[in-house]
Amino acid sequence: MEQSSTILEINDLSKFFIHADTQMIEVLTGINHEVGEGKTVAIVGDSGSGKSTLLSLLAGLDQPTSGNLFLKGHDLTTMDEEALARFRAEHIGIIFQQFHLMSHLTALENVSLPLDMFHKPDAEERAREALVQVGLDHRQHHFPHQLSGGECQRVAIARAIVIEPAILLADEPTGNLDNQTGEQVADLLFNLVQSNGMTMILVTHNEGLAARCEQQVTLKDGNFSIEHLINGYNHVKTQ
Ligand SMILES: Nc1ncnc2c1ncn2[C@@H]1O[C@H](COP(=O)(O)OP(=O)(O)OP(=O)(O)O)[C@@H](O)[C@H]1O
Ligand SMILES: [Mg+2]
Repeated sequence: MEQSSTILEINDLSKFFIHADTQMIEVLTGINHEVGEGKTVAIVGDSGSGKSTLLSLLAGLDQPTSGNLFLKGHDLTTMDEEALARFRAEHIGIIFQQFHLMSHLTALENVSLPLDMFHKPDAEERAREALVQVGLDHRQHHFPHQLSGGECQRVAIARAIVIEPAILLADEPTGNLDNQTGEQVADLLFNLVQSNGMTMILVTHNEGLAARCEQQVTLKDGNFSIEHLINGYNHVKTQ
């Protein structure tokens, strides 16, 4: 059997929110999981089951209540804000449902932003190459409001991959697009992940999209309840 080294280790991870000083919301309760390098994993589950919460923790955008998260052997939970921001900018590509592009920057400027933060001398050239990879080199100087939804998501994908991330995290990347555009963006995403050998964690309600990942896990009652290791054609029931 093919072996791959572990790139992500989730150790007894919990996240509780205190609401209005009185209510404790136990969203994630002691999750354990390992993801091998180059693997694609879909996280499915009902609305409110904690998928986005988990992705925020994996992205280092929020800290867990308890537990540890190792990415490439580095524990995200012990890093301070500044170290986390730097680590994220160098190793983690994030794609959101709402694109989250900077409205006052062009497509090219949006894509080069993660590299500009580190004053990379070849930022513009690399950003241009990333736009070519997502088929948008003819839209370099357009602002987000001059682009279609599908084009905006392509820019967001280019921005996520331009740093050559160790891991790509995507939260409903096609959720804001019509079916046909969503299919095209999904095709692009999976092609890029495959050709660049990237590890991807994808949150989605879309069973067809989830089935394209090698592994599918269902988040239910604060933990991963069903886990199917598949070979690309098996399906998972989300209920
Ligand atoms: N900052 C917060 N404060 C309090 N409760 C929160 C906070 N963020 C999320 N929650 C709660 O945590 C639960 C999980 O939310 P989350 O956004 O992770 O769900 P989800 O699985 O991504 O849902 P969806 O499929 O609708 O996007 C919800 O019940 C939500 O109300
Ligand atoms: Mg969500």
